[in-house]
Amino acid sequence: MTRVAPSTWPAPWPADPQHIERAAQRWRAGELVAFPTETVYGLGADATQDAAVARIFEAKGRPSDHPLIVHVAHAEQARGFAAQWSQPVARMLAKAWPGPLTVIVPRRAGVATAAAGGQDSVGLRCPSHPVALALLQAAHRVGVAGVAGPSANRFGRVSPTCAAHVIQEFEAHVPVVDGGECSVGIESTIVDATRDTLVVLRPGHYTAAQLSEWAGQTVWAHDPKPSQAPKASGTLASHYAPRAKVRLMARAPLLERCTQASQTPKAGHHLKVAVWSPDAAPPGWTGAWRAQPTQAQACAQSLYATLRELDALGVDEIWVAQVPSASELSAGHADEWAGVADRLQRAAA
Ligand code: TXA
Ligand code: MG
Repeated sequence: MTRVAPSTWPAPWPADPQHIERAAQRWRAGELVAFPTETVYGLGADATQDAAVARIFEAKGRPSDHPLIVHVAHAEQARGFAAQWSQPVARMLAKAWPGPLTVIVPRRAGVATAAAGGQDSVGLRCPSHPVALALLQAAHRVGVAGVAGPSANRFGRVSPTCAAHVIQEFEAHVPVVDGGECSVGIESTIVDATRDTLVVLRPGHYTAAQLSEWAGQTVWAHDPKPSQAPKASGTLASHYAPRAKVRLMARAPLLERCTQASQTPKAGHHLKVAVWSPDAAPPGWTGAWRAQPTQAQACAQSLYATLRELDALGVDEIWVAQVPSASELSAGHADEWAGVADRLQRAAA
């Protein structure tokens, strides 16, 4: 891809009826359009056209055996891609959709094979972002049964949470419909429903406790039998990573290190460091310092934008304060931070 200067980057498409129709027609024609969801922006193409799906893999630089999520406007549409749908899954989806949940179910034979990366399962998601729903409904009307959509970033990079991030990733090569800043900020919770138990493969906004209540049966927060899990690239150890090295540290030692560095600025310190911590910067700290929210939802919402912003400063390292661990939290709140903790670990791997 040829690089163009940021000043000549294209504007995102406004989410008006005309552009929503245009996006739907582009999908119908087998082209790419990036779109907003409540979690992160997706890089969309018609899930039933193999050539369109191939364009996604090519643009992302993603290996074509890594399956994509298929986005739909409602649960009935999702059933067209699924071979089976158990009662607990139906109950869970009735509560969770539209919303930040992806469910992996056995795939209907011959449907969306390329999007599924050749797996005999398929990941399905009905997002709640009003622009996403409008786009998916418009697409359905013109004959697009589902929109394959990985996060709209190059493979292994930080997911985009606003239209400008998508343009940074793909420049003029992919139009993006502007839906503002994503409210959730980290990717959907993924539940594997291809086995006899329901298991969270990727933690997100919906916690396992919440999903268990909706399903009427236990949804495991951690995989009791990882060997049976389907392959999911989002679960690679190193993923969602900025260019700078991300170091995760407990809050107190991080502050201690920064205090020392501030007092002896020249003592062997040649690294340019930026910090994301709930604590205030120590006196004399000259590097970038961003406040890390102490509520899980607010922290998730700002996670990727902060990593991108600090990365763009050209720092060598980003020091990030570890978020509260399950053992430090009361029972009802134990997995609220699971999604953020998971993404930070992968960014630091
Ligand atoms: O919030 C989200 O889920 C966003 C927005 C755009 O919807 N999408 C997203 O897609 O995060 P992606 O492709 O970046 O991550 C989807 C993950 C990948 O790790 C993929 O391997 C896994 O879901 N996945 C999709 N279909 C699967 C399947 N049939 N079996 C196993 N894993 C699957
Ligand atoms: Mg992704």
